[in-house]
Formats: sequence, C-alpha cells, structure tokens
Amino acid sequence: MCGIVGYTGPREAYPVVIKGLKRLEYRGYDSTGIALLNDGLKVYKKKGRVAELEEFVVGKNLHSHTGIGHTRWATHGEPNDRNAHPHTSKSGKLAMIHNGIIENYVQLKKDLVNKGYHFTSDTDTEVLLNFIEDIKENNNCGLEEAIRIALKRVTGAYCILLINEDDPGTIIAARKGSPLVIGVGKGEHFLGSDASPMLEYTKEVVYVNDYELAIVKPDELILKNLGNEKITPFVTKLDMDLAAIEMGGYDHFMLKEIFEQPSTIHDCLRGRLDASAGTITMSGVENNIEAFKTAQRIIIVACGTSWHAGLVAEYVIEELCRIPVEVEYASEFRYRNPIVNKGDIIIAISQSGETADTLVAIEKAKEQGAIIFGIVNAVGSSIARLSHGGAYTHAGPEIGVASTKAFTGQLAVLTMMALKIAKEKGTISNERYSKLLFELDAIPEKVEAILKSADAIKAIAEKYKGAADALFLGRGYNFPIALEGALKLKEISYIHAEGYPAAEMKHGPIALVTETLPVVFVATKDSYHEKIVSNIQEIKARRGKVIAIISEGDDVIPGLADDVFFVPLADEIMAPMLSVIPLQLLSYYVGIAKGVDVDKPRNLAKSVTVE
Ligand code: AGP
Repeated sequence: MCGIVGYTGPREAYPVVIKGLKRLEYRGYDSTGIALLNDGLKVYKKKGRVAELEEFVVGKNLHSHTGIGHTRWATHGEPNDRNAHPHTSKSGKLAMIHNGIIENYVQLKKDLVNKGYHFTSDTDTEVLLNFIEDIKENNNCGLEEAIRIALKRVTGAYCILLINEDDPGTIIAARKGSPLVIGVGKGEHFLGSDASPMLEYTKEVVYVNDYELAIVKPDELILKNLGNEKITPFVTKLDMDLAAIEMGGYDHFMLKEIFEQPSTIHDCLRGRLDASAGTITMSGVENNIEAFKTAQRIIIVACGTSWHAGLVAEYVIEELCRIPVEVEYASEFRYRNPIVNKGDIIIAISQSGETADTLVAIEKAKEQGAIIFGIVNAVGSSIARLSHGGAYTHAGPEIGVASTKAFTGQLAVLTMMALKIAKEKGTISNERYSKLLFELDAIPEKVEAILKSADAIKAIAEKYKGAADALFLGRGYNFPIALEGALKLKEISYIHAEGYPAAEMKHGPIALVTETLPVVFVATKDSYHEKIVSNIQEIKARRGKVIAIISEGDDVIPGLADDVFFVPLADEIMAPMLSVIPLQLLSYYVGIAKGVDVDKPRNLAKSVTVE
C-alpha cells in the first residue's frame, strides 16, 4: 500500500530517497516524508505528493548518507502532516516508516499511555515505534533486540525501516506480509517496497521473507529471523531495465501500458506457444500436470481486475478442460471458512503478487493441503514465492494504478494453461486445439490493429465524458469484460459504473435506463450474439444510449447502436483479450477529459498490501 525507501552508503541520501519515492508514488500518495541522519536526526514530512515535500524542504540542511522515505496510503488516521511518516519516538532518537497495519495497536497504545506516553498522531506506526523504544529502555537492550521482542508481540502486517541517531549509517528493517527488497551495491545498500527505487543503481537484489529482519550498513547486510538466527541473503539479478519504469514519451503510464500490449502479450506467449508445432510449453503446468488432469475442481482466488481475469478463466477452463471452476474474492474466501480438500488446486492471480487478501487466502488454503498455482506479474513477489508452481505474465513493471497490460497477460497465460491441460486430458479435438493455438498466436497483431483506431474511442469518450453513471453489459466470455470495463471507468474517471450479464438487466437494472445513460455493450461475434442483439433492442426501446464493441463484419448492431467500435474477428475464447482494449482506452480518455490524474486516481494504490 505505502511506498518505502531507504539508502545507506557514500552517496547523498536525499536525492536517492526522493527519486525512489517518486518511483513508488503509485503505491500511495496521501502524504510523504523523509528522515535523514546527519549530526542528529532530521525529519521532514508533508501531506500530499512528493513534489510538495520537495518544495517544503527547500533551504533545509539535507546533507546525509543515510536516509529513509515514505509515501503513504492512509489506513489509520486521515491524510495530514501529523499522521505522515516518518514518526519519531518519545526520546526523539528513533525514526520509523511503516507499510502495513498493526492490528493490536489499540491495546499497546493503552499500555503505553498508562506509562505516560503521549502521541502526536493517530497512527498505529507511532505506537509500534514507542513500544520498541519502551522495550529497549526497560530491557536495557539494543535496538535490534528490542525490535525482535516487539515484533513477536504484534499482530498484523508490516514492513518497517528504522534509523537511530546513536547509530548513524545503520538502517534496521523487518517484514511480515508487506514487501521488502534490498539492493546490493558496492559499499552501499538500497531498500524499497519493490525494486524500482534501486534499478538505476544496481540489479543485484535480495527479496526479504516474512519474519526476517535486516541490519543494513553501507558495506554490510545481515539477515536474521526473529529468533536471532542468521540467514544467508539470497541475491538475485533483476531482469528489467530502466526504460521499463520510465514513461517513454507517453503522457501517462496508463497510456504507455495500454499501447505496450501487442509486445507484452507477445512476450507472454514467446517461448511457450508454438502454433505451427502445435505445442504449449509451461514448466509450471507440466510440473503439476497430473494434479491438473485429475483435479475435481479448481478454485481461483483474486481481487479487482485479477478477479475478472479469473472469471474469464472459469468459462475457458470449464469449456476446454471440463473441470468445475469456482472464482472467489480472496477477502471473502479467506474468512468464509471454505471447504478446501487436500489436492485441490488453487489458482492465485495477482499483478503485484503482494495483495494481502490474496496472500492470506492462499496461505490458509496451503495449510489445508491445497496446491497453490500462482499467476503473477511481479517477479520474485510474495505470492510467486509462496506458490507450489506458477507462471509469470511477463508484462513488465505495471506502474499505472489501473491494471491493463497485466490483465491481458493474465488472460493469455490462463488460455494457454487451459489449452495445455485440455490437450493432456483429451477433452479437446486436435482440430480445435490447433485452430485455437493459431487464434492465440494472432492476438498481438489484432491488438495492434485496435490501437491504431484509438482516436475513434477518444471521440466516443469526449461524447460521454459528462455522464453521471454508466452500465456495461456482456454475455458469456464478454460478461467479465463488461465488469472490467465498469471497474476501469470507475477507478479512472470517478463515474459510477456497473457491469452486468446483459440478460440480467430485465431483472432490475433496466430501471436505470434513461435517454442520458450510456450503456456499453461488449458484443463481439460469438455464440451469444443473437441474444445480445435482443438485449440491445431492449435498451433502445427505452431510448438508452448504446455504445457497442463489436466484431468486424457485424452488419446488425451498427443499425441499432448510437456508437460502435470494431475489433478484429476472433474465436469467442480469444475475444476478451481484444474487447477489453477499447474499454481501457475509453476509461483513459474520459479520465483525461475530466482532468483526472489517471496514473494516480484518488483513494487508490497499485498494490493493496493491507487486508
Ligand atoms: C485494477 O485496475 C486495480 N488496480 C485493482 O483492482 C487490482 O486489480 C487489485 O488490487 C488486484 O491487484 P493484484 O492483481 O496486484 O493482486
């Protein structure tokens, strides 16, 4: 949720930390702050964006070689200067930043208040920091030990970074549930919620695991568990370059990521799909093929856009593999006490690989003996490391809060999986299998063609930007895409939008239809086409405004709809990877027309690391 950055080494810490915060600002942008060690502890923090903090520190003494920085997504205490991180301890000697939620902070706070502590903020973080200092003073132990003792007594999720006035050059960090990456340089170390703050300095990184603590000095990195046992850091090499996290000449990351999809889908298929040879190579699936072939059911857990990808997969897997699929909201699945049998397959879908709801859901299912198969975009992320097997979507870093290229990558991976399992199970004919492989292989080119007519969507967006509400309708494979279109418009333009199975309209929502309500139909050519034409006529009968995403060659719907957008013809199983593109563009252009910061829409964050 929040973005965490740290640096210790020979460089000036301030510019490294500030640049890192800008790279992580998609994780939360309610307030920002830094703490520097130079001749004592210096803390500067402000409500709002990193740019506002930069203005605030003009003229201040920022010289330091050790610093930590935070960009906040508020959970406890509203966004303001008081609740901004870093927080300082009662003695004023310790500063701490935190990403996560301390669930038992109320009780801890009560105990500390009884001991005479006063708090300047409403945050759980300030409570944890003073709890640590209280242990340090009362147990007469070092900071590291005090942290270990404290963390054994808190519940919830955390990634914390602390600096101590009495120990310049050292940063102590710890994590449970919230991500932490440490970049290894020559005589310097970088810390971040992900690798983006350190990519321009080093490609050598250590992914810190839950219940691990790191003592970081310029030329030393010590990893320990909460039992004070040393752990050998496992250094991995990052396989990405700076361009991947730069805007590359686009106005926004969201637009860049939408236009990257022909190459990201290609990258996702490359080395896996060989249509002419008739093969799909996915080691994660191959290693678990017996489990997939004999699975009695598959449970998909995810959140948000990833959940919509799961819904498409339900249709594809049931159709091709004849395995019953249940698609679960991770947060509900976690607390619903679901029936999970040993050997059940849980597919966890996540762009960030750090979404807390999905993480705790698969931890729970794993305890009950389920096989966890992760479909993740962020390499080395927690869900990837927790899964028994999996497949990366290879979409590259996704910076825009609205998920776009990761979604089509998820659909490509799930479709390849379904085809491979169906082939292994013999639930698909060789002809259909081969036809679908070539259909999938043609998707990147078809997306390219769609993007060439982005201006047509821009014109439609201009026409409907003033709408107060909108409905998105689809049937079959396009129903989840209607849900995704509605989510994109909601999060990027703040227009209230809902997605529905088109036939469901008659059971209530059709009451919303007026002459000003835009109703977006995802109506590409498929086995439901006649039915959806009738649904369009029902809306037109009530003078609703119909925008239809249709297949090239459709000569019926253009005569009914107010606005149409053509996508290349494709098998209905592949259509979701095409029909979603104009909906991504629609939300982008409406958001732009309304002056929304489309990369950082209000109240949102890219990776939801708190439950
Ligand atoms: C989608 O645009 C949103 N950013 C959000 O719904 C997102 O899909 C959800 O938070 C799940 O994230 P994940 O894929 O990283 O787990």
